[in-house]
Amino acid sequence: MKRIHIATPSKRYDVVIGNELLHMIDRMIDRVCPHVTAVLVVADETVASLYLSDVQHALRQTYDRVYTHIIPSGEEAKSFEQFYACHTAALTNNLDRDSLIVAFGGGVVGDLAGFVAATYMRGIRFVQVPTTLLAHDSAVGGKTAINHPLGKNMIGAFYQPELVIYDISLLYTLPEREMRSGFAEIIKHALIYDRAFFGWLQANIQKLADLRGDRLQYAIQKGIEIKAAVVAQDEKEHGVRAHLNFGHTLGHALESELGYGVMTHGDAVALGMLFAIFVSERFYKQPLFYSSFRALFHRYGFPTSLPSHVSPERLLAKMKKDKKSKEQTVRMVLMKEIGTVCVERISDDELLQWLYAFVEEGGRQG
Ligand code: NAD
Ligand code: GLY
Repeated sequence: MKRIHIATPSKRYDVVIGNELLHMIDRMIDRVCPHVTAVLVVADETVASLYLSDVQHALRQTYDRVYTHIIPSGEEAKSFEQFYACHTAALTNNLDRDSLIVAFGGGVVGDLAGFVAATYMRGIRFVQVPTTLLAHDSAVGGKTAINHPLGKNMIGAFYQPELVIYDISLLYTLPEREMRSGFAEIIKHALIYDRAFFGWLQANIQKLADLRGDRLQYAIQKGIEIKAAVVAQDEKEHGVRAHLNFGHTLGHALESELGYGVMTHGDAVALGMLFAIFVSERFYKQPLFYSSFRALFHRYGFPTSLPSHVSPERLLAKMKKDKKSKEQTVRMVLMKEIGTVCVERISDDELLQWLYAFVEEGGRQG
């Protein structure tokens, strides 16, 4: 079992990583959350059908009042309607200020249930029990949110969990596309912070199927350590935390433009990172070997060109709604070299020109 400590100004807590942890989550939670009056487990349909009975069984060993609320699977559940339904479940089951929410699932459940915890009775405790590879990122750092049709993660709060329990053995039921989605955020962590780790990924993860056993655990640990280091410096994204948005300016715009859930978050971010590298070469006027990144991303199975029906103008409009934008000017995280990124203002004209060039490049090579 591995423990990574997260130290933010608002809260300190641990991320515990290991195998076969589900059966003891009650004791792990009890150690850090005293006097819990009731527990509400939020899970999606898929995760519930696989593991909910194990979680309930474990929690009932310590807690008398254990309730569950099941949401539909997929990105569309990060909606106002599901947020409201979670609050209704909390109220119906008489949760009080000493109750606890367990977010049991991927980033969708974590973001939604975390935001419910942040807002129910102005905030109650919650624990993240992530079940996807992507959630090595989303369960750590305290960003919680739901989507608005006009923009991704537009309604939310910074609200840290009491504990993150990451049982890696749950990842073996994840479909390949979801493993790939999570892998995008691992690559992101390497590219923004740690050149040596990126080298390790290139050498050890030739294809997605290599993400197993010790290599999987190492990749997850490194990803979480990088995230921990960043959020410790800047919990509320006044500075360096924005670097975690590498690939997200285009990624979020794509997700919103295509309709939530059409492309996985990780695929959208991977394409966004590729575009950010493409822009970085032009913005800094220096080679970053974009073509080799493109070949690598292609080998891992990520999309490497924009869907043909998506218009650059509409993407630009969505990118301007990004939370990093200031006075309607897009600010993108660009890469100076592997392991070093910077936030830069990009004019609409340049961005549109580079979006068209990126489409053309994709068409030529695709
Ligand atoms: P997800 O929660 O929708 O999970 C992906 C799919 O995998 C779902 O269909 C789910 O039912 C299924 N699933 C989950 N665990 C499973 C398991 N163990 N076995 C089989 N199937 C399983 O999506 P995700 O990729 O985990 O998260 C994406 C979300 O995370 C996005 O909304 C994104 O915006 C958010 N995110 C948030 C942060 C943050 O800092 N808060 C960071 C990155 C991403
Ligand atoms: N995933 C971006 C962040 O946590 O800041």
